[in-house]
Amino acid sequence: MKSLFSVIFVLLVAATPSLYARVTLNAGSSSFNIVNYGAKGDGKTDDSQAFEKAWHDMCSATEGTPTLLIPKGKSFMLQPMLFKGPCKINIELQGTLVAPKSVDAWKWPDNNRVGWIKFSDINGLVIGGGGTFDGQGAAWWTKYPSASNRPSALQFLGCKNLALSATNHINSPRNHIIISTCSDSSISNIHINSPEGSPNTDGIDISRSSNILIKDSTIQSGDDCVAINNGCSYINITGITCGPGHGISVGSLGKDGKFETVEEVHVRNCIFQGIKNGARIKTWPGGSGYARKIRFEDIILNGAKNPIIIDQNYKDYQRNGPAKAVKVSDITYRNITGTSLSEEAISLNCDPIGCTDIACPFDYRFTGLLDPLTSPPICKCILHVGIERVF
Ligand SMILES: *[C@@H]1O[C@H](CO)[C@@H](O)[C@H](O)[C@H]1NC(C)=O
Ligand SMILES: *[C@@H]1O[C@H](CO)[C@@H](O)[C@H](O)[C@H]1NC(C)=O
Repeated sequence: MKSLFSVIFVLLVAATPSLYARVTLNAGSSSFNIVNYGAKGDGKTDDSQAFEKAWHDMCSATEGTPTLLIPKGKSFMLQPMLFKGPCKINIELQGTLVAPKSVDAWKWPDNNRVGWIKFSDINGLVIGGGGTFDGQGAAWWTKYPSASNRPSALQFLGCKNLALSATNHINSPRNHIIISTCSDSSISNIHINSPEGSPNTDGIDISRSSNILIKDSTIQSGDDCVAINNGCSYINITGITCGPGHGISVGSLGKDGKFETVEEVHVRNCIFQGIKNGARIKTWPGGSGYARKIRFEDIILNGAKNPIIIDQNYKDYQRNGPAKAVKVSDITYRNITGTSLSEEAISLNCDPIGCTDIACPFDYRFTGLLDPLTSPPICKCILHVGIERVF
């Protein structure tokens, strides 16, 4: 008799989780607190199941936009996880989501080290709340020097109308945020922070996406602050403080002879400090496609090694077959000021069929860092055939 009772009780609870987990806020929207799904939030216990259940319930909600509350003062350990749409959901991340601490503790679906937290095919996902994504990357950086063996932290795939704001992103094993095949989305007021020497810890990587706005954020990492890759158009980046890091990059494009494109990129009102590169466009010899209609303006660069660089010989690839290059055109640099660590503040390393309509910034005001008063500003164009021209 006793055992029959407990079986019935368990079944009831399992079948109706929303009865105890869901709180109605007002007509049409409801809040789901992850703690009510049994999540411990002690930073060690695997809370993945609670998140899976909550996501399932929220996606079953028939009206309004449910909110997932991840409360303050707690740290929830999550294994690699896919949150799949098409449900419309708000995530109020006040606490911390933390990856497994040791490399061996990560549990991979199909042994495929894709990434840590992936959101896919969601229209209208809103994430905010002031909390933190902690990728626990330190153990990965030392154990796997090669990037391809390390997972990225947060991925948004196939999203539309995504709004990510007021979150912190620390210590990803690889890229902190990936945006791919997304449109009409924004990232604002976030902070990304990893040590300067951490390998391939890009801030935000965008590919195959359009109408994306990234604004008012700070990015400190071991690699590109923002990388704009193949298939991107109408990308606006404004109000970013970048560094340490490798700057804002378009590309690399055209690896292994591929046709790749980027157009309509507008980087404005940014501050770069303590960075390797500032505004960079990089393409591989032998590729095709284009990087065009790209504008960098109102930018302050302090202590960059390569403040402005177009590199069409990225990675010194050995050319096979007919000469080809990704075409770089209609590039504007305007109102860029600051200090350069190298004399060659502007380096346009173009293939003979490579660059057209580059508005070389004759109004730029770069000074050598060591002796700002005497170092003359130099704009150097290095042509592929080895002719150097100094303006
Ligand atoms: C990007 O900036 C341009 C020019 O200011 C504006 O017309 C466009 O709507 C912006 N796009 C996004 C996605 O913010
Ligand atoms: C140049 O850019 C700086 C900020 O980076 C801005 O404060 C200033 O107003 C800009 N000047 C012009 C002439 O647009």
